[in-house]
Amino acid sequence: MSAAGGPVMVGVTGASGAVYAQRLVRHLLERGFEVLLSVSKAGRLVIQEELDLGGAEDPWGAAGRERLRVFPEKDLSAPFCSGSFPFRGMAVVPASMGTVGAIANGVCLNNIHRGADVALKERIPLVIVPRETPLSAIHLENLLKLARSGAVVLPPSPAFYQKPRSMDDLVDFVVSRVLDALGVTNDLYRRWGG
Ligand SMILES: Cc1cc2nc3c(=O)[nH]c(=O)nc-3n(C[C@H](O)[C@H](O)[C@H](O)COP(=O)(O)O)c2cc1C
Repeated sequence: MSAAGGPVMVGVTGASGAVYAQRLVRHLLERGFEVLLSVSKAGRLVIQEELDLGGAEDPWGAAGRERLRVFPEKDLSAPFCSGSFPFRGMAVVPASMGTVGAIANGVCLNNIHRGADVALKERIPLVIVPRETPLSAIHLENLLKLARSGAVVLPPSPAFYQKPRSMDDLVDFVVSRVLDALGVTNDLYRRWGG
């Protein structure tokens, strides 16, 4: 598949699982996609906690880095805040319950919420990777609202029939399913029956 069809928007929020965002963004950039990225304040906190950056400031890798555009979360003039800007899809990964609640209720406090709001109204593929456990009835109702509005709700739940041998295998399985939902062909893991 070519990178035609516009950029991919990635919103990173303050739930555990920053490594999924890192792997997704790196893969898209390596594959030639343009990526528009926004990281919430809490998302930056979790990145610092969870990713072993080895002193490097930038978790998003080197290959294809010139195709990455980063927007501050409060920048509501970012292109994906308008329905007139074509993008091929958006992933919120990981998605905190706070962000899930905001998007599910049409509340746009930052450009991640607004990008998702635009994706839903324009019928642009939106993938939500929620992370919390256990889930309250409020969380579940918000996720149901998102699914009913057209989002793909994709919990980071790796399959163990793949016999993962490393954390990379577990992460790649989830990222591969996110890419599938965005319509990006990939072979990040060996598929059942393949
Ligand atoms: C290290 C760390 C891990 C967190 N993990 C989660 C989580 O897995 N799920 C969640 O909903 N919130 C989690 N939180 C709380 C959110 O970051 C917090 O609710 C925040 O306000 C979310 O803001 P955001 O949606 O704008 O990123 C975590 C916070 C920290 C500091």
